[in-house]
Order: sequence, then C-alpha cells, then structure tokens
Amino acid sequence: IALPSSPPELYPPFFAITPKDILPDLKFPEGFLFGVASAAYQVEGAVKDEGKGPSIWDWASRQPGVITDNSTADVVDLHYYLYKEDVARIAALGVNSHSFSISWARIFPFGTSDSPINQEGINHYADVIATHLQSNVTPVVTLFHWDVPLALHAYYGGFASPNIVDDFIHYAKTVFTAYNGSVHTWYTFNEPQVFCSATGSFPFNLSLPKDVNSSNAQFHCSYYLLKAHAGAVKAFRAMHITGEIAFKSADYVGMPWRANNTEDVDAVERHAAFGIGIFADPVYTTGDWPQILKDTLPADYLPRFTEEESKEILGTADFFAMDAYRTYWNAAPPEGIAACAGNSSDLLWPSCNLEVMFDFHTGWASGPASDPLTPWLQATPQFLRTSFKEYHRRWPAPKIYFSEFGFSQPFEGVRTPVELFQITEDTERTNYYMTYLGELLLSIHEDGIPVEGAFAWAIMDNAEWNSGLSARFGIQYVNYSSPILERTYKRSAFALSDFFQAHLQ
Ligand code: NOJ
Repeated sequence: IALPSSPPELYPPFFAITPKDILPDLKFPEGFLFGVASAAYQVEGAVKDEGKGPSIWDWASRQPGVITDNSTADVVDLHYYLYKEDVARIAALGVNSHSFSISWARIFPFGTSDSPINQEGINHYADVIATHLQSNVTPVVTLFHWDVPLALHAYYGGFASPNIVDDFIHYAKTVFTAYNGSVHTWYTFNEPQVFCSATGSFPFNLSLPKDVNSSNAQFHCSYYLLKAHAGAVKAFRAMHITGEIAFKSADYVGMPWRANNTEDVDAVERHAAFGIGIFADPVYTTGDWPQILKDTLPADYLPRFTEEESKEILGTADFFAMDAYRTYWNAAPPEGIAACAGNSSDLLWPSCNLEVMFDFHTGWASGPASDPLTPWLQATPQFLRTSFKEYHRRWPAPKIYFSEFGFSQPFEGVRTPVELFQITEDTERTNYYMTYLGELLLSIHEDGIPVEGAFAWAIMDNAEWNSGLSARFGIQYVNYSSPILERTYKRSAFALSDFFQAHLQ
C-alpha cells in the first residue's frame, strides 16, 4: 500500500516527543478555543437527583446485554456534584474551554413542552456556566447529546415521531432564554448521524413503537432531527441570542483504497453521503438530501423535504463542527477485496471501511489491519489535512471547530489489572494527540483552513455508551473504586497543556 507521503520525521518516536518541538513556529490563531469535551450522560451521574427525569440511556443501561460491562452511568464521574473541582482541574491545565452538554431530562423531566420545567436543573447549569466563566474556561454548550427524556420515547418513540420537533424547539428556547449572554458557542445536536443510524443496541432502536418500521426509522429520525435543528436555530436568531450555533458532525470523508479507481472513488462518495452528507448537505449546501440517498431510497424510507422545509433548513449553521477521530479508506464492495469481507454486508452502505493500524512508534498509519478489540487504535493523523480540506470544500463555512478528537485505551484497567502508572503513562494517546495537533497546525497554516477550536475527548474517563466503563477516553484517569472518584491527570493531559502553551501566540 502506498501511503500518502507524510512527514513522520516531524513526529519522533513517542518517548522523544516534546510538545514544544513539534512545529515550534506555527501558532494557534488568536482566540483559539483549546479545550476538553464531555457529555451529560457520560459524566454527570446523580441520575435521579434534583428533579431529573430518566433518559433513554438510563433505561437502556438497565437492560441486560446492552452495556458491555453491565455498568450504568448512575454515578459514573459524579460530575453533577464535582463540577467545581472539575472546572478547576481544567483551568489548572491551562486550557481555555470545555464543551459539555445539558441534560434535557434535567430541564424537562417529563419531556413535553406542556410539562413542568425543573427549576433546580435550570439553576444547576446556571452555576455550572458561571463557574466556567469565573475560571476563564469558555463554556461551549450542546443541547442534545443523545439522552432523550425517556418520557418522550415512551409517549411517541422520541425521534421516530414528528412530535419531537416542537418539544425539542421548546426545550431549546427555554435553555437559550436561561443562559443568553453567558454562552457564546452552541451546538443543537451532537453527531446526529450516529444517533439516528446506530443500529442494534442504541436505545433509539431498542424500543421503537409498534407502528414504526425499524428499517426506515433512521431516516425518519434524520428528517425530524433536521427540522428540530432548523426550528431551534430559527428561534435562536429570532430571539437575538448572542453567539453562534451549529450542530456537531461525525464520521469522515474517506480515502479511496485504490487511488484513481472509479469504483473506490464512488465508494468514498457513497460513504460521505450517508455519513456527514445526510445532515451537512441539507444545512450547508443544498437544503436537501445528498442525491445518492434520493436515488437509493424510496420516499417511504427517506421522507422528502417540501420546498418550504428546504428553505428553513438551509443555512442554519454559523460554523462547521467536526468530530474527527480517524479516517478510513473506502473501497467498492465486496468480493475481490479480501480485507473488506464481513464489512460490507449493510446494503445501505455499499462500501467497505478498511481499517489501518496505528503505529505506536511514529503515530502514522502503517497498513491494513483488522483487530476488533482495538478499533480505536486505527487512528490516522496523515489524513487529517486532506479531511479538513474536503470538509471545507464540500460544506464551506466561515469557521470550523474540531469539536472532538480522542483515543480510547481499550479495556484499560478493566480486563487486565494494571498499575496506575501504566494507565497514566498513556503514551499512545499522547502520541495520537501530538500527531493530530501537528497536522491541525499544518491545516491552518499551510492549507488555510479556518479552524478556530479543538476539543480533546474526553475531560476524563466516562461512560462510553454501549461500552460502558470498558473503553477509557479520558485525559484524566478516574478511579471508580475510590470513594471520592479520584481523578488523576494522564500524561496526555500534560502534553495537551504543554502543546497549547507552546503554540499560543
Ligand atoms: C463521539 C461522541 O460524541 C461521544 O459521546 C463519544 O464518547 C466519543 N465519540 C467516543 O466514542
């Protein structure tokens, strides 16, 4: 395999990396947000406290077999009570922002717009936001990070129903009114394509109402979610809320496995259409679904937009936000490409994702690999610049946030007993961050991509959805056996901090 030409000499073996030695002359633009990220369900705990209603994940985590290690997030990091300490620890690192989400079920325990507002929830986040501001940590707020109030799921199937649109808009307005002036950067939805399309044990798919067809639910979800997003942004603008708003994209624009092979190039296009494009095309470029989707899916699968809906959706983002953890090669399916086997069965996604192995030593992708236990090791910094160019070319926006990137140490501390220093000396994660940040600086300076923020996922180990506590993404280790849920900075936290200080203007 011919890998794109790359400068591995920029990144010496991880044990020799010094953040300040990576591209020392390239600085972050003034005002750059360099922060950490989290999400309510994944860190807060306090699941029944101060008036909170249950969310679909609180329910799902109680169903057998849904969470790999059978953990719930009932307590997890107890960030709900420890936020002052957590914000202090962010400030102490010298990074300047925190992207977190508000739990809808804390504001509306019963979900619907005509149900009571939980004032304790409103007060709580007011103090969370104030604490950030007092510590000079810029709060970046997501309205929805997958935790639908369970009541809405029970009443009408959550995002499988058109009823969700007004309930979400009402919730959004309530939050905008409460925190207007204290928060500048807002996201409506986190990774909608993951939320709507995740099959199997994502709670959205676990308990659809009987009249919803599970095979097209993901596209109905996408349709209602876009309408909810557009309605919330319309309200944001009509209410003259100060600041900026968009949603957070997920996935990637892949690389063709065989460069110049038309079938593989086509696979890249299909993947991009069903991935980023399903939400980004309507919002950033056309007001409509990607053409490939319309050609592939009949209208009862994929509801078509009316002209008015298209107009309402187009242009409802002030910037582009990208959660970009890694990039894959895409190849045409399936026979003929052995590495593709088992990866191309989904008819709706007729392309294969070929995983590449992350080389611990150089931080560079080293060739195809398939190890189901270590999916997060297949990180690919050398594609980051190409990816940013593609995002910017396809979905242009005046600014881009690299809204999440991160690296999980699989099963660290869970399957294999390890010493604390082995966990906190997280050289692979450190290497991941340093190589990605180096490439990010090159994107900004060499390619002119207007990236104005980068957020490391995650602030600390947390409840990783279906993987529970068994996948640790934190730049801080959390000792779940200690009564105070002790946090310990990992090496990657210091490296991020040093990198930022070294590349500040
Ligand atoms: C992106 C999601 O937004 C976040 O919730 C998740 O934990 C990370 N990816 C890692 O999987």
